[in-house]
Amino acid sequence: MQQIKVDISGVSSFIDEAQLKAVRPEAEAALQTVDKATGAGNDFLGWNTLPSEITPAQIDDINATATKLRNNCKVVVCIGIGGSYLGAKAVIEALGDTFAAYRNDGGHCHVVFAGQNIGEDYLFELMSYLHGKKFGIIVISKSGTTTEPAIAFRLLKDMLERQEGKKFAAEHIVAVTDAKRGALRTLADTEGYKTFVIPDNVGGRFSVLTPVGLLPIATAGYDIKALVDGAVAMEKGDQSDALVYAETRNALYRAGKKIEILVNYNPKLHYFGEWWKQLYGESEGKDHKGIFPASVDNSTDLHSMGQWIQDGERTIFETVLSVEASKYETIIPSDNENLDGLNFIAGKRVDNVNKMAELGTRIAHIDGGVPNLTITIPALTETYLGQLIYFFEKACGISGYMLGVNPFNQPGVEAYKKNMFALLAKPGYEKETEAIKARLNK
Ligand code: PA5
Repeated sequence: MQQIKVDISGVSSFIDEAQLKAVRPEAEAALQTVDKATGAGNDFLGWNTLPSEITPAQIDDINATATKLRNNCKVVVCIGIGGSYLGAKAVIEALGDTFAAYRNDGGHCHVVFAGQNIGEDYLFELMSYLHGKKFGIIVISKSGTTTEPAIAFRLLKDMLERQEGKKFAAEHIVAVTDAKRGALRTLADTEGYKTFVIPDNVGGRFSVLTPVGLLPIATAGYDIKALVDGAVAMEKGDQSDALVYAETRNALYRAGKKIEILVNYNPKLHYFGEWWKQLYGESEGKDHKGIFPASVDNSTDLHSMGQWIQDGERTIFETVLSVEASKYETIIPSDNENLDGLNFIAGKRVDNVNKMAELGTRIAHIDGGVPNLTITIPALTETYLGQLIYFFEKACGISGYMLGVNPFNQPGVEAYKKNMFALLAKPGYEKETEAIKARLNK
């Protein structure tokens, strides 16, 4: 199996060998802390050995459920937010046909997402799209109480039961949740939904290789065994790439590079950037520390953010996801008039032009003061995405411990919820409601 590769040659004019060597013992110690489960948050390290623990029976069970949904539904709505959404969305977008939803291809089942926002128009338009269509629901929530997915599920469950009847609904709603606790577990058990368990020791943002990610990905028609095999290869292989990535970004952070931009040159990787931002942002941004994770889609964003990256405050570095081979070949045609002056690239593949944009940008950014790390991915396939997911998870654990934080908690995400519940006068929040009203009326 070919493997993804990390290249840090583009940081050499910003940090030297000695600076990297200085952080190496810390990176190695952090790797040991992850592997031996001796650090803060060590009850959330299930993801570390998860890929090799997934059994063929689990894969078969997920595939059988996905096949039933695909066979009986024109649309499957996947409901979840944060770690209960982004991994599946990232993989499905990376592997999918960008225009699948617009093709008139008869029986093909589409996976769409809800519960990742509280947009009233989004939900209205989704329900109007689902009107009269056979649809199924995969509802994913570890806690079972998260507001955004709970609102979407309440609406869509009601709609499905009215549209197709309670029996069809109960047979085509699948819940992915905690083994024992939470409102969703109670409801699923009462209604007799098929359920999958999110292991206790795997946090939301590390859960893409559990049924949280695997069920929607299989339902969208992709090979989850190959995805898991890719992750297993990384889990069982040597961890030097994860070490190098973690130590390099930490050395850059210490040298004043406070923002990391994950860059792609393939629009299919947009949501991979969103997944990565949650993984690193939620794991490292605490105790008033942490690299700010940003992302851009190039060459699109070279026409919007390119100026800032080339010439703005020099506190950034970039990590480029470089895909070696595209799936299809498209040759740029020659044109007799040549009014656009593009005949000099006629006969070349579009990907060849894209690669020159990537290389030209790399050189310009390094010259402009932006350190460059590059992760080469042979192609966008299940196997390489599985490798990439595990690589980033492992490096995130190492990196968080190097930073001196608990990479596996997220205390900061509760603050907005407390205020929102107080403003909505949720029972049990009476004191907070009073306090926030007094504050707003000042
Ligand atoms: O990483 C996390 O823990 C969060 O992003 C959660 O996954 C997200 O808030 C959704 O939580 P839940 O699955 O409990 O609905």
